[in-house]
Amino acid sequence: MNDVRARRKFSRSVVFAAAFALVTAATPAANALPDGLALTPPMGFNNWNTTGCAVDERIIRDTADLFVRDGLKEAGYSQVNVDDCWAEQQRGPDGRLRPNRKRFPGGIKALADYVHGKGLKFGIYTSAGTVTCAKTMPGALDHEDVDAQTFADWGVDYLKYDNCNNQGRPARERYEKMRDALKKTSRPIVFSICEWGQNKPWEWGARTGHLWRTTGDIKDNWAKLLDIVKKNAPLDAYAGPGHWNDPDMLEVGNGGMTSTEYRTHFGLWAMMAAPLLIGADLRKISPEHLDILRNREVIAIDQDAKGVQAKVLSKADGRWVFAKPLANGEVAVALFNEGGAKARISTSAEAIGLPRAAGYRLRDVWQHQDSRTTGPISAVVPPHGHVLYRVHADG
Ligand code: GLA
Repeated sequence: MNDVRARRKFSRSVVFAAAFALVTAATPAANALPDGLALTPPMGFNNWNTTGCAVDERIIRDTADLFVRDGLKEAGYSQVNVDDCWAEQQRGPDGRLRPNRKRFPGGIKALADYVHGKGLKFGIYTSAGTVTCAKTMPGALDHEDVDAQTFADWGVDYLKYDNCNNQGRPARERYEKMRDALKKTSRPIVFSICEWGQNKPWEWGARTGHLWRTTGDIKDNWAKLLDIVKKNAPLDAYAGPGHWNDPDMLEVGNGGMTSTEYRTHFGLWAMMAAPLLIGADLRKISPEHLDILRNREVIAIDQDAKGVQAKVLSKADGRWVFAKPLANGEVAVALFNEGGAKARISTSAEAIGLPRAAGYRLRDVWQHQDSRTTGPISAVVPPHGHVLYRVHADG
């Protein structure tokens, strides 16, 4: 082989090796769906926590506008999702779902087009039952193929599939039927299993959808938030690229908790590699709460390419330590104070899994400040608060 050909062959194999490395890095684990969707936890908006059934096309369009205007799109939020109550009570003569005439006069296709026009994605909702949870529209049980095709025809990118009015039929069967129906459409659609953790979806969900609810519904109060954290945190081993535990949508900005509690909500969701679906009305949210949702350093922890959900290292006396290994070798650590009085919470660089080093940099991602340590990691944490560091080993 002459020199030129040998060089070409060599550079070709370097290119192939690099491409292969890229592909393998971006491929979901063997136990996830092979479609490459949701390799990081979905980010976006869902109207349910702010409007309930009183949803209309206005809030969806306005949210898409505000995603662009307020920098949320740039921060990584891409899904704009409609929840329950968007359809008429009866199917059309063709057996297809029909958008509610009063609240969605332009129809769903036009709405999806509008959202796509902003460079965003559109999501919709139905239930694996005879009717949805609010009972104002038909569910998809035994109508999986026609409903999946209707969604694909409209340009839907994400389906939240609820569990109400399921006639006692086995969950796995119902969710797998919709998974197969979505696949038949050939449109890439993120499949969100909203089964509330009743049949341990973390044990079968990775082969069925991209995320699964682990609990009942969130509410805009501290007790409920804590309840969900306690149920979702121990499930870390089940999460990974393309298959996520879903502790439910965000309440940040809805007014029922303090800003400290909302920061804890957002920080712990990021540590748990949870979907970040904004549940507040962005037309009315306060600048302080909007800034919580836009914190790029916290979002980066949630969206880290390694896709690991934080492990709880300790939680004695309501003093929690969470650690989340990150793709660049750093580790994120949350010191979370469940209790009603301030408390000192401590761990160390070694305990969170970092290699031995002369020193470490602690990046406080809420204060946007760096400090240094030789190993101990410790802070006095306000009641219901947390301190969130990205820790980097020197050298
Ligand atoms: C269930 C779901 C919620 C929401 C409502 C809509 O309760 O868990 O997230 O979608 O239904 O009716």
